Amino acid sequence: MTIKVNDATGEFHLYNEKVSYIFRILEKSSQLEHLYYGMKIKHRDSFKHFIEREVRPSCNMFEGDHTSSLEHIKQEYPSFGTTDYRSPAHLITDGIGSHITNFQFESYQIIQGKPRLANLPATYVENEDEAETLEITLKDDVLKSKLILSYTIYTEHNVICRNARFTNSGDDAFYLNNAMSASVDLPDDRYEMIHLYGAWAREAHVEVQKLSKGIQSIYSARGASSHAHNPFLALKRPEATEHQGEVYGFSLIYSGNFLGQVEVDTYGVSRVQMGINPFQFQWKLHPGETFQTPECVMVYSDEGLNGMSQTYHRLYRSRLARGEWRDKVRPILINNWEATYFNFNEDKVLEIAETAKDLGIELFVLDDGWFGERHDDSSSLGDWFANKEKLPQGIKGLSEKVEALGMKFGLWFEPEMVSKDTKLFHDHPDWIISTPGRRASHGRNQFILDFSRDEVVDHIFTLIDDVISDSKISYIKWDMNRYITEAYSAGLEADRQGEVYHRYILGVYRLYERLIEEYPHILFESCAGGGARFDPGMLYYAPQAWASDDTDAVERLKIQYGTSIVYPLSSIGSHVSAVPNHQVGRMTPIESRANVAYFGTFGYELDVTRMEDDEKEKVMQQVAFFKEKRSLIRNSDFYRLLNPFESNEVSWMVVSEDKKEAIVGYYKVLAKPNDKYYRLKLKGLDPDKLYLIEDSGSTHYGDELMNVGIILGEDFTDRASDYWQKEKSGDFSSKLFVLKEIEPSNNN
Ligand code: DGJ
Repeated sequence: MTIKVNDATGEFHLYNEKVSYIFRILEKSSQLEHLYYGMKIKHRDSFKHFIEREVRPSCNMFEGDHTSSLEHIKQEYPSFGTTDYRSPAHLITDGIGSHITNFQFESYQIIQGKPRLANLPATYVENEDEAETLEITLKDDVLKSKLILSYTIYTEHNVICRNARFTNSGDDAFYLNNAMSASVDLPDDRYEMIHLYGAWAREAHVEVQKLSKGIQSIYSARGASSHAHNPFLALKRPEATEHQGEVYGFSLIYSGNFLGQVEVDTYGVSRVQMGINPFQFQWKLHPGETFQTPECVMVYSDEGLNGMSQTYHRLYRSRLARGEWRDKVRPILINNWEATYFNFNEDKVLEIAETAKDLGIELFVLDDGWFGERHDDSSSLGDWFANKEKLPQGIKGLSEKVEALGMKFGLWFEPEMVSKDTKLFHDHPDWIISTPGRRASHGRNQFILDFSRDEVVDHIFTLIDDVISDSKISYIKWDMNRYITEAYSAGLEADRQGEVYHRYILGVYRLYERLIEEYPHILFESCAGGGARFDPGMLYYAPQAWASDDTDAVERLKIQYGTSIVYPLSSIGSHVSAVPNHQVGRMTPIESRANVAYFGTFGYELDVTRMEDDEKEKVMQQVAFFKEKRSLIRNSDFYRLLNPFESNEVSWMVVSEDKKEAIVGYYKVLAKPNDKYYRLKLKGLDPDKLYLIEDSGSTHYGDELMNVGIILGEDFTDRASDYWQKEKSGDFSSKLFVLKEIEPSNNN
């Protein structure tokens, strides 16, 4: 990768083998003009010929100059009020109440590698030659302040990472009302916008809408990235498909309130912006202080949506996730939530653990209900000590017993919450987020601790530390089950209340950082009532996340398909649960439940002690299968083949990097009588390799599998009567095809 600068013309060109990003310094105003972002183009000394300037009846910056309207100049980090009327990338209120800014180029530096972001999750490098970072320093002489725009380009990953940093170098405080992480003016509007929307138990549904003039946006104002929208959007050409065509992806590494927006102006320019949601945000920047925005990861793909997803998968798997668990295969776990809910005791959970151990399962996770007087969801959050009636020897005793079985032990916490009947609330009633004189709304009977305050975070660290330092804990599920209301912190002055949401999430990150530093061997799984915080920010601390409380195999097809648009399989928490399913009441075969859950971290969430022997036998086989294939599944390239939002048949597959192995999941939601012929075309294989499809024993070259496809029907030639005897698969059926390269024999 390279960053080329032409000092004479003030042009910057960042490129690697796939992508180019070009901008320049405007001669008169010294602001930054965006010139191009997309497929890599050859470097030239100057790209000035990309400049477009027409004379239009607009306001212009300079007298006598009719082509200096910022409304018609594509920009890097636009402001409002000095001839541009579109949505700005930043907004400041200064000491005299003005919003006008004029950040002008001052200097630049090129840094080998990628600097860390202070107190925020971000992608990183392990060696300096993996990436290069361009930092542009701009200054506003009236505000006496600096703005640093940072652009990182990786060699191996087809991404540009952006963030912005404001420093108050003046004598007076000012307020930041908006500070986007990235803003890009794309020259036309012939795109569809894709994003992931949802609600509890139906997260990450894929929404595709044609761009229209004006602003279209996704956002969160809930204090978490939320079930409703994921901090991600993509623009794709209408003709682009899963596997070909132009797509631009924008993903924000942040877990709090965010905004992702596209404004199509009246001249057809599409301004894409992503960052902290400016609604309810105001940050007071005192002299000498700096504000750092989160990072936005932009991916350009000319290989369709799937190409974009694969780029995010590789980057987030290897250069966002961190720590011991980043590259390790994850244990197959059993979680007691759907098996017992709050109703368990030590005997019961040990019985589950013991049975699970016999089936080959490696980690037992004790979910909600082990502490205080927690017998339902109305109490005890914050009393992080074991209920001795349920667990006479506490977490220490239980964890030792589980380890003695030859299993690892994991534990559930909801660190950010408090119930009113607890010692924690009794001692610190002012530690909840609430507005003085106003009612404090509850969510699931619980209240949110004010994580914007360091003393609160430190206290919770101590409480959790007391439990885990004393016990044998290998895994923690960190849950978060309600959104913020009446946002107000007793720890902040009146004119700093706009900082609460962001400071809150910084507090969450701080607690995570302390815990993973102290306990690097513990595997963290993030969770927020399912997938309400399934975002890149969380992946920096917890390499896997519970994708949804909906464990129904059919619902999971959509949820996992949508989640895979951005997130790698290694991060997608997916379990086999009981039938009738607890969220929708559906009966699905255990084979299909596993065939869906394999494409994630894989585990179980049911009472194995109540299973019949034949079902246990199946679980044992599934566990053995996953152990054999889990490295392949987590490290491979993922291809989405058939879309659950569009068809009754769903399919996806993984292909190993060397293309020697692949696993295909095929799912048919409803059975159909006298149905059409089905051929399933695969992707990503080596056309010249010969593959054996295990079980069926048939062999095919990659070119055949990708162009003709797997013929899903059987051949009943000369055995027509068999057809009528054949058992029908019923609804919710599925098949798994395991492919392996073999040496061609003479007949091939
Ligand atoms: C919500 C989570 O998503 C569930 O898996 C479970 O942990 C419950 N909370 C426990 O209260």
